[in-house]
Amino acid sequence: MMNKIIIARNKSELNSGISQFRKNNETISLVPTMGALHDGHLKLVKLAKLKSDRTIVSIYVNPTQFAPGEDFELYPRTESNDINLLTHENVDIIYIPNPRSMYDEDHTTKIVVGGVAEGLETNHRPTFFEGVALIVTKLLNRIQPDYAIFGEKDYQQLATIRRLVDDLDIPVKVIGAEIARDNHGLALSSRNKYLNPNGLEIARKLNKIMISCANSMSKGTNVDEATQTAKAQLLKSGFSSVDYIEVRSPNSLTILEGGVLSSPARLLVAAHCQDVRLIDNYPIS
Ligand code: PAJ
Repeated sequence: MMNKIIIARNKSELNSGISQFRKNNETISLVPTMGALHDGHLKLVKLAKLKSDRTIVSIYVNPTQFAPGEDFELYPRTESNDINLLTHENVDIIYIPNPRSMYDEDHTTKIVVGGVAEGLETNHRPTFFEGVALIVTKLLNRIQPDYAIFGEKDYQQLATIRRLVDDLDIPVKVIGAEIARDNHGLALSSRNKYLNPNGLEIARKLNKIMISCANSMSKGTNVDEATQTAKAQLLKSGFSSVDYIEVRSPNSLTILEGGVLSSPARLLVAAHCQDVRLIDNYPIS
């Protein structure tokens, strides 16, 4: 039987739903999103439903994680389609906070996560993780879920949130979900819809080049040599630029000195295709 979905647009609508669940001693999962939902998001929702009695999905395009000149205004907003998809998944609450109700006009607090949040994305989007840390902390405080689900697609974001939650003693269990890909291996992303057919063809080469780079390093190719080769292949395939293609330790994301890998690692990549910035990552065993 379908539940009656609560669409909460303010704190009191949110709280009345949550307090009912808590009264019944039910566990709660939160899946934070910025909407424009696709199968990758829905995979997180399915995992949330397995983990807990109740599932809350938040939809909020968070201004503090966009730098001036990034696509905040243009970011796809598909609210009624998102609500349909989530209704079909039978979630319990869709939290769509009124944009004005999220941040006080005079908010000043910053949350700066070190270590895992340094380098990689931060070299190209210096204040991105500050914005993510702030909104995720606010959502976790407002909802106080037992579980919070994030995708490995945004691998550095997931590592940053794990660090944040540990460092600030936030009482939630963070769960990582595997990357959802299309039939060609391209990681699903809300921004893929900006690609035209030619761009899509180029974008679908990213995962193939990344996997062959990871496999060659697990077979003993030197890290610098393998990543330089992969970068050249990306540019030759039609990517306009490569922000990074780097190998890090899998959890703390510490830099591994060049050479041959002797323990599991993670390959992380960001590259531009037709004005769309794509990110992806892959385990090296
Ligand atoms: P958004 O890009 O909407 O992604 C919401 C969640 O879905 C993130 O945890 C992201 O890693 C996950 N996700 C997106 N594409 C995925 C895919 N192909 N496979 C698996 N998981 C995928 O990430 C954000 O929003 C924001 O930064 C947020 C955490 C909501 C804070 O504003």
